[in-house]
Amino acid sequence: MKVLVLLVAIIVGAAHECHGSEHGASFQIFPLRMKTGSGGHYIPEVSCASWRLGVEAHNVIEWKTVPLSCEGYIGNYILGDQYRSDSKTVNQQAYFYAKTLNITAKDVWVFDIDETSLSNLPYYAQHGFGVEPYNATAFNEWVELGEAPALPESQKLYKKLLSLGVKIVFLTGRPLDQKTVTVANLKRAGYNTWFKLILKDTSIYHGKTAVTYKSSERKKLEEEGYNIIGNIGDQWSDILGTNTGDRTFKLPDPMYYIS
Ligand SMILES: *[C@@H]1O[C@H](CO)[C@@H](O)[C@H](O)[C@H]1NC(C)=O
Ligand SMILES: *[C@@H]1O[C@H](CO)[C@@H](O)[C@H](O)[C@H]1NC(C)=O
Ligand SMILES: [Mg+2]
Repeated sequence: MKVLVLLVAIIVGAAHECHGSEHGASFQIFPLRMKTGSGGHYIPEVSCASWRLGVEAHNVIEWKTVPLSCEGYIGNYILGDQYRSDSKTVNQQAYFYAKTLNITAKDVWVFDIDETSLSNLPYYAQHGFGVEPYNATAFNEWVELGEAPALPESQKLYKKLLSLGVKIVFLTGRPLDQKTVTVANLKRAGYNTWFKLILKDTSIYHGKTAVTYKSSERKKLEEEGYNIIGNIGDQWSDILGTNTGDRTFKLPDPMYYIS
């Protein structure tokens, strides 16, 4: 049966090939068909890949959890080569950009922490890769261990920026009371130096969005005379708002959404 369907698909496909010529060269356009099962059956990977693209392009917003049917897909993505490769592309482009600049003592680069500098994958792997609703108690217990590993591609960028003479500013949604463990975790993971580490003062920003908080802290930096030449994060709320920096870089994160 499958063979028959495949045969029919090939014949139908062949009938739809387009032939054309331009500038004297002849070429064929093969019809692109969505990957579906035999007989056109639904394949979850296709719609989960579409969902992930929607998330990364900020078309899918304000979502609370990863769709249940995408747990396996997101788990495979995040533990596999694609996540590493996607992260590498982003960080490489950031470095290619940075090295074209003449760095001054006033130039800073803003790094987010979670899923940008440090990875909480050991936690999320135990909690359905974002399928489970966020549990602040459980997540903070993980943070307090101070064991989050570095994201290797981001760490390469961090080191290259330091060698270019760029000042590093960590700007995180982690609250001030996690400062000690965050400092220890950053150092343990190999982030040994920085110009500023800004954590969220919940007495000022309680109930405010990440966009508001991060914009406001970046504005302060610029008012102090620093130029934000680059800004990198895994959430759109890291790079939206005001004072976003000369260029922004969005790392992949299909596990959670922070507005
Ligand atoms: C950087 O500085 C060099 C030497 O002063 C100059 O030739 C070059 O145009 C500058 N590049 C940029 C991008 O400002
Ligand atoms: C959240 O995590 C805590 C600590 O692990 C656990 O005791 C609690 O049951 C969890 N809450 C929910 C709703 O799963
Ligand atoms: Mg983050």
